Amino acid sequence: MGLDRGDGWWRRAVIYELAVVSFQDSDGDGKGDLAGLLQRTDYLTWLGVDAVWLTPIYPSPMGDFGYDIADFRAVDPTFGTLADFDRVLHALHDAGIRLILDFVPNHTSSEHPWFVESSLSRTGDKADWYLWADGAANGGPPNNWLSRFGGTAWEWSEARGQFYCHTFLTQQPDLNWRNPRLQEALADVMRFWLDRGVDGFRVDASAVLIKDDLLRDNPPNPDAGKETPPPQRFTPVFTDDRPETMGCIEMLREVLDEYDGRVLCGEVQGKTDRIGHFYGSDKPRLHLPLNFALLDSQWDALSLQATIDAYFNALPKGAWPDWVIGGHDKQRVASRIGPAQARVLAMLLLTVRGTPFLYMGDELGKQRSPLPRESVQDPFEKLVPGFGLGRDPERTPMRWDGSEGGGFTAGKPWLPMQDHRSCNVEQQQRDERSLLQLYRQLIELRRKHPCLVDGDYQPRRARNDVLCYRRCQGQTRMSVGLNIANEPRQWPCGGGIRLISTHLDRAVEQVEGPILLRANEGIVVIEAL
Ligand code: NOJ
Ligand code: MG
Repeated sequence: MGLDRGDGWWRRAVIYELAVVSFQDSDGDGKGDLAGLLQRTDYLTWLGVDAVWLTPIYPSPMGDFGYDIADFRAVDPTFGTLADFDRVLHALHDAGIRLILDFVPNHTSSEHPWFVESSLSRTGDKADWYLWADGAANGGPPNNWLSRFGGTAWEWSEARGQFYCHTFLTQQPDLNWRNPRLQEALADVMRFWLDRGVDGFRVDASAVLIKDDLLRDNPPNPDAGKETPPPQRFTPVFTDDRPETMGCIEMLREVLDEYDGRVLCGEVQGKTDRIGHFYGSDKPRLHLPLNFALLDSQWDALSLQATIDAYFNALPKGAWPDWVIGGHDKQRVASRIGPAQARVLAMLLLTVRGTPFLYMGDELGKQRSPLPRESVQDPFEKLVPGFGLGRDPERTPMRWDGSEGGGFTAGKPWLPMQDHRSCNVEQQQRDERSLLQLYRQLIELRRKHPCLVDGDYQPRRARNDVLCYRRCQGQTRMSVGLNIANEPRQWPCGGGIRLISTHLDRAVEQVEGPILLRANEGIVVIEAL
């Protein structure tokens, strides 16, 4: 089997990540739910997204935003029932929107019956479904591996008289991916949802599924300094991105390929130059290893040009690119680059070659607002305080209108909603020039001009703070010029028909080159048809 070069729908799709718990509450408990999501499908249609990815909706003690799963084949009662899920799936499909679920194969909740059974004895049926090890000679943990969320990655189990490994919380024991029976059980979980009709998965923590079998200690991180959070003080050579992990991803892909037209996205760690591996070569792996490069890039034209180039160069032949500008783990980009450049980013995201991923609220330019200490929910913030690692600010509920509960809930929202009142859907739908309208128009533009999806990407040289590139398909040639400066800048482009400006205040009209871009302005020009 070679790399999938088929023309999958996910190449043309705009993918919208949403957390059900923060999207729309229907029953006044302050937490979003599936019935609420159902009420908001019209919004998704209006915006024009092609697919939604839901963060975990499964039964969970919610120690880690649902990434601690106690049952892979059901829906948490906070969100509704399996029947509610089916209703959402059908409503989305009727609206032409696909649904991608989060799939978390690295760990379960410690409340999962598999773990409960596994911790009871060293000989039982599920004895080796998790990563168990004896302690060191001094009785301490087996090695120096650290949890992402602070402290050792090993927890003692009295009943078993052994330690278990947890890459994340102690309540999230790591599964043993070397066990074929465990692999088969997870394959069946995928089939359970694929049979129901889901369009694919986003695989959580897909780079850490297998850890070194010799349990070799990780070396100290040579770049670690005082500001480095303690969990990063060792380089995760023997825990992350092991070659054996690739076999696990290939297996997940084989299961997915039992079904037509589904997509496998995956959260992968590390630097851009590693991303190629996750696509696979002889055997296919992920369709879309999530690319966070824009979030890590410095925000100036030269850095962006280099970031984009490095990413494209890292892709194997035939691999399809993607771009992520936000997520439930990521600080809001609009806070970093400011509202004016958030518009430029929208144009970049929707005109550069690759599948765009945006996260609920990014289309409103939602900013990161620090939460009062007493509202903190994220264990990351509680366990590794003082480094600004908390993820609550990006997880606060959607603001649909300017009312008290933001149109999100009639009750008390599970996280405070403290955004500025104008950062809400209703207000931005009314304002013809809002960021929300810009997203909508850019998504429409992509639909109208397949060149923006399938066309070749040709970089132009960034100069004078203008990031620019061409998209070309057949006779069609489109040019994008993005002014990263807060002052007007000349863009030496040949001219053509200007289709859209980030400022949304210009008619579609013929323009002569060179073009004077206003401060923070991006434009798309069609040079030849
Ligand atoms: C990655 C998820 O995106 C994050 O939210 C979670 O805490 C960890 N994986 C553990 O599942
Ligand atoms: Mg609710």
